[in-house]
Amino acid sequence: MNFFIKNCDLEKEKTDCIVISIFDGSKLSDSAVYLDKCSNGYITSLIKLGDIPGKIGDAMMLYNVPKIISKRILLVGCGKKNAINKLRFKEILQNTIKIVKKLSIKNIIFSFSEFRINNNNNNIYWMIRVIIISIKECLYKIIKINNNNSKNINIKNIILNISKKKDLFTAEISLKHALAIDHAITSAKNLSNLPPNICNPLYLSHKAKELSKKYKDNIIVEVIDIKKMKELGMNAYIAVGDGSKNKPFMSVIKYSGGNTINDKKIALVGKGLTFDTGGISIKPAFHMHEMKYDMCGAAAVYGTLIMAAELQLPLTIIGILSGCENMLGANSFRPGDVLTTMSGQTVEILNTDAEGRLVLCDSLTYLERFSPNIVIDVATLTGACVTALGESVSGLFSNNKELENQLYNASQETDDKVWSLPLFSEYYKELSSDVADFSNIGKGKAGAITAACFLSNFTKKYNWAHLDIAGTAWKSGKNKGATGRPVELLCQFLLNQLNDI
Ligand code: BES
Ligand code: MN
Ligand code: ZN
Repeated sequence: MNFFIKNCDLEKEKTDCIVISIFDGSKLSDSAVYLDKCSNGYITSLIKLGDIPGKIGDAMMLYNVPKIISKRILLVGCGKKNAINKLRFKEILQNTIKIVKKLSIKNIIFSFSEFRINNNNNNIYWMIRVIIISIKECLYKIIKINNNNSKNINIKNIILNISKKKDLFTAEISLKHALAIDHAITSAKNLSNLPPNICNPLYLSHKAKELSKKYKDNIIVEVIDIKKMKELGMNAYIAVGDGSKNKPFMSVIKYSGGNTINDKKIALVGKGLTFDTGGISIKPAFHMHEMKYDMCGAAAVYGTLIMAAELQLPLTIIGILSGCENMLGANSFRPGDVLTTMSGQTVEILNTDAEGRLVLCDSLTYLERFSPNIVIDVATLTGACVTALGESVSGLFSNNKELENQLYNASQETDDKVWSLPLFSEYYKELSSDVADFSNIGKGKAGAITAACFLSNFTKKYNWAHLDIAGTAWKSGKNKGATGRPVELLCQFLLNQLNDI
């Protein structure tokens, strides 16, 4: 499927369908007014009949419209003209795609560029980005493991009509960004949706290696295996993997863009538990299969690096995929064990299901060798975060206000929402242990926060933020599958870094 930006002559475009909008109270958009005029008032004549409503969810397909070359015109209801925000706009696009994907439409023109989305200063840029990313999201399909992935989507070419020529340049930039971000999101989703018998820690490292082949001028990958981990003293990370025959692998992806214009180093660390049974503190069977998604943090980091490489961002980024599998076995680590982490700090294990933080703490210490300015870890870390914020908002924690604000702003811009939770000293007390520096779980109820406090004990050397994506990384039920979050947030965060220079 290809996307194009074009300043169209709507009346004369030879295409299968033109999508235009109509608002509440039968108000026509500029494109609709234009096509109405060209067709000698055909659309207004239908309005007079009372047949064209403009509410969100409404739509009407018109065929053989007089004097119009396009085979079809789809009028899409968009609700109140001045109340369109990004969320509504996405809904409108979803309705549109649902209709057109069933028809034999190969070429389609979206003429939405005269839309005004509220609270959006760079309108055309966001309009194009939201259109492309939403369309791709609507059409995403989980890859089936049977070599039989039929392509039943007819759409080949999507033209986005830009009504003002002066907007073409911005629209092209937006198109470029959107395609790279979509590539990132789709790659993250595909990796996350794989079953755990295929996507294990070694597989993650192969995916990382693949990046260094594909983007050989920009990406170098180093894989830290268990032997190297032992040398480094990554005993917490190693302990989590002890119960599994699939050995842990930590993939270090070093990206450096063309002409790097600043020497800021940004590190992204992803929890990559390719399966989390809970270990000896085993999880209940119900929904346990969903713990294949416990590597969504690693998948998000993987995707984000693809975006950086595709756009050749002039930045230095270190991505870590902390691959590991938490299983039960004769060699499993136990509740009661005391582990010496790579940092030298000791941890008493009170629950082997609080394993993500153990893998991450050694990854975070490992990162110190790169002297990063910013470190962001992404992890499906706690069920408690889902209790606190639900399934549409990720938890944000940081030891630096500026970084926290930057992530918050990027999340607002992309609708990939986050909300800050505090790291007050009261919470740290809950991690106290009588046999070690701290335990791996908190005593109280604020489990998302105590998990973040735990991590913060390993991030004192740099500005750090932690995203708990336990609620947002995948969906259960009817539309089950990975969401690709928080890839768009991370991509936007990186893009915003460029404006700051
Ligand atoms: N991967 C889970 C967190 C999780 C659970 C994410 C459910 C999404 C849905 C994590 O490793 C875990 O098991 N955390 C425990 C921590 C507890 C033992 C302190 C949890 O949240 O129950
Ligand atoms: Mn767990
Ligand atoms: Zn886990």
